[in-house]
Amino acid sequence: MDYKAIIAKYRDTTGGILEAFNAVQKELSYLPEEVIAEAARIFNIPAAEAYGVATFYSMYSVEARGKNVIRICESAPCHIAGADEVIAALERELGILMGESTVDGLFALEFTECVGQCQATPVITINGEPFFDVTAAKVPGILAKFQK
Ligand code: FES
Repeated sequence: MDYKAIIAKYRDTTGGILEAFNAVQKELSYLPEEVIAEAARIFNIPAAEAYGVATFYSMYSVEARGKNVIRICESAPCHIAGADEVIAALERELGILMGESTVDGLFALEFTECVGQCQATPVITINGEPFFDVTAAKVPGILAKFQK
C-alpha cells in the first residue's frame, strides 16, 4: 500500500497522525520527508509541526534504517542481567554496530529504555515483538526468524 493511502486512512481519527506514522513506519521502517509532508497536508498542520511529532517520539525514525528494527533494553535490570553480551552477539551476527543498519537493509540495531518486561531480562524487541531472557546463544535463532 502506498504511504498516501495509509495516511489518508487516519484522516478523521483522533490522534490520527500518530496512527498514520505508526502504520507507515511499519511498512517502510522509517518516516521519509515526503511522508511527513503528506501527513502535514492531510492533517492540515504546518510541516514543522508534523516533523516535530515525528522527531519527538523515540519510536519513530526519520532516518532510513533496516526493515527489522532490533531494540535492546539498556536500562539497569537488563544491563545487570547481561545485555552487553547480547549486544556483542547481535553486532557479531549482523556485522554492524549499535545505531547501524545492515547493508542488505534487513536489520537495524538500536537501544531502548525499559520496555516494562523486567521480569525476564535481558529483553530485546524486534519490530515491537518482545523476546525474553535473551542470551548470546539464543541470538542466531531469534535472527533466523527474520532473515527471510
Ligand atoms: S529494564 Fe529491560 S525491560 Fe525493564
